[in-house]
Amino acid sequence: MRAHEAGALHGDLGSRGPGWLRTPEDVNALLPQLWPRTVTRSAAGALTIGGRDVRELAAEYGTPAYLLDEADLRARCRDFRAAFADHDVYYAGKAFLCRAVVRMVAEEGLHLDVCTGGELAVALSAGMPPERIGFHGNNKSAAELTRALDAGVGRIIVDSFDEIARLTELARTRGVRPKVLIRVTVGVEAHTHEFIATAHEDQKFGFSLAGGAAFDAAARILDDGVLELRGLHSHIGSQIFDTSGFEVSARRVLALQAQIRDARAVELPELDLGGGFGIAYTSQDDPAPAHDLAKRINKIVDSECDALKLAVPHLSIEPGRAIVGPAVVTLYEVGTVKDVDGIRSYVSVDGGMSDNIRTALYDASYSATVASRSSTAPPVLARVVGKHCESGDIVVKDEFLPADVQPGDLLAVPGTGAYCRSMASNYNHVPRPPVVAVRDGVARLIVRRETEDDLLALDVG
Ligand code: LLP
Repeated sequence: MRAHEAGALHGDLGSRGPGWLRTPEDVNALLPQLWPRTVTRSAAGALTIGGRDVRELAAEYGTPAYLLDEADLRARCRDFRAAFADHDVYYAGKAFLCRAVVRMVAEEGLHLDVCTGGELAVALSAGMPPERIGFHGNNKSAAELTRALDAGVGRIIVDSFDEIARLTELARTRGVRPKVLIRVTVGVEAHTHEFIATAHEDQKFGFSLAGGAAFDAAARILDDGVLELRGLHSHIGSQIFDTSGFEVSARRVLALQAQIRDARAVELPELDLGGGFGIAYTSQDDPAPAHDLAKRINKIVDSECDALKLAVPHLSIEPGRAIVGPAVVTLYEVGTVKDVDGIRSYVSVDGGMSDNIRTALYDASYSATVASRSSTAPPVLARVVGKHCESGDIVVKDEFLPADVQPGDLLAVPGTGAYCRSMASNYNHVPRPPVVAVRDGVARLIVRRETEDDLLALDVG
């Protein structure tokens, strides 16, 4: 098994040995797959992103801050668009959503996947054309569905019989015919953390293929005729490197597609294979480029359709992490350094589990580098921790940092664009950091820092 599969996302140093860590020589190296593409180290030794020195950005916007390399995000959108040229690429907004990013992905020709009324509100307020929005969720309320119908979203991915009944009723009363896809649980054991795998049978998402619920859902929608059944949908999980999961999933949903055709004489015109494409968090991760994914997915869909005598459906995919994850770096300031003799150095930064819960929640691995200067000091094994009152408040479990790392240094953690700001909390009443987009030497605030006043404004007791 390769390091980044299964256990590597949540493995522990003890059982794997330190070989997976970046070597000491890499301490100050910038590995291209790990860092946004405009990141460089200046002659003075500080990191630059989008043409701006991180020391200036820290002075202007404070720390911690999420720095978004806009050129990198746009390039990733274009890579996916080019690789999946005949398909629709839905950016999965749950990875990170704000109005500026909605506009960026819309300008780059992507569609948008939302999964709550809140995400839908952000998308609509940013001017995303509603017909380019797909609406997901395993428990959409009547209010959320109503809003989606009123807005005219392009597709609703139905996830339960209750939802089919709810949506059918709402559509009937309004005299509209929304386009729907059926979320199918294909029974694939994706090689990723248990909490982010979604296609095994025993979980909350979708209609079981093996148990027959997915076929029954199609039959119910076709019998009623109120909703327009456009196709099937499968999302097997997240942070997946082994593409065989997508292949098995495509094979299984296409078999269901053929079963529906045989039983009902209906060929569904669309197929969505979800998102989940893995990214690099450490130098050990080696994600497949978008064109490789596209090639493999197209090949399997074409050959299966040929074997089943199905017309190749219009395909769509839903990458979130792979679009925004590698485009963002979190910038922290070091506050304290504590050596625990013979074990490691604890480097405390001014954020932590409130701006990145992924390490605590999924045992995820990250990397870090001193961003405000270079250093020739020997590397020491360090753990980057936050300022929260919890010993599990870890940002980077294991990293070699220069032995002279000290209070006042800026530390950069790459790969934090996906599921960090979007899962951020106010634990310990820590305000959430801003998001600063940097491009061609110009920085602009796209999500401002929360203030204590923001927190107190909610406290009306
Ligand atoms: N489509 C559907 C239906 C999904 O449920 C998801 C993610 C995606 C697309 C996008 O997956 P991506 O390409 O971003 O991997 N909080 C977790 C990840 C949860 C993913 C939820 N669904 C994490 O931090 O790893």
